[in-house]
Amino acid sequence: MSELSKRIAVYPGSFDPIHNGHLDIIERCRPLFDELLVAVLYNEEKKPMFSVDERVETIRELVGGRVESFSGLLVDFMDRVGARVVVRGLRAVSDFEYEFQMALMNRRLNPRVETVYMMPKEDYIYVSSRLVKEVHFLGGDVTGLVPDRVLERLRARPRP
Ligand code: PNS
Repeated sequence: MSELSKRIAVYPGSFDPIHNGHLDIIERCRPLFDELLVAVLYNEEKKPMFSVDERVETIRELVGGRVESFSGLLVDFMDRVGARVVVRGLRAVSDFEYEFQMALMNRRLNPRVETVYMMPKEDYIYVSSRLVKEVHFLGGDVTGLVPDRVLERLRARPRP
């Protein structure tokens, strides 16, 4: 299949860190597209816990396939890689407003880009990277919510 006719989907996010809800979305949507590219946003202003290189490396170890970082507009990155579909996870109604705004803004910027929403497994509906970090650094146990590799990396990191 030529690169041009390939259906490439991009799953963008901060992934700081990747958690089991993200992994569930990746597994679910992989069979739906010819290629799924996980795109990690490079945005140091957000003061991430893990560097973009660490995040890309961790995701590559966990899911293989194509994992890249990007900065600037998502639609520009999509153009560069020849993708038209954005995949996003939708957990609860609270996600909707932000996702709705992003999808419509991306459509305005590039009408050829479509956003597809996936529901994660119920077990992960409440899991977010922000809560994982907060709970872990306050001494709570996040086993089962993140892959073991991420748990190791969290444990190796001093509390902020
Ligand atoms: O995991 P996150 O932080 O919810 O992911 C947000 C992300 C990376 C998808 C979004 O911030 C993004 O696409 N940023 C790139 C900049 C951009 O294109 N902004 C306009 C889109 S509305």
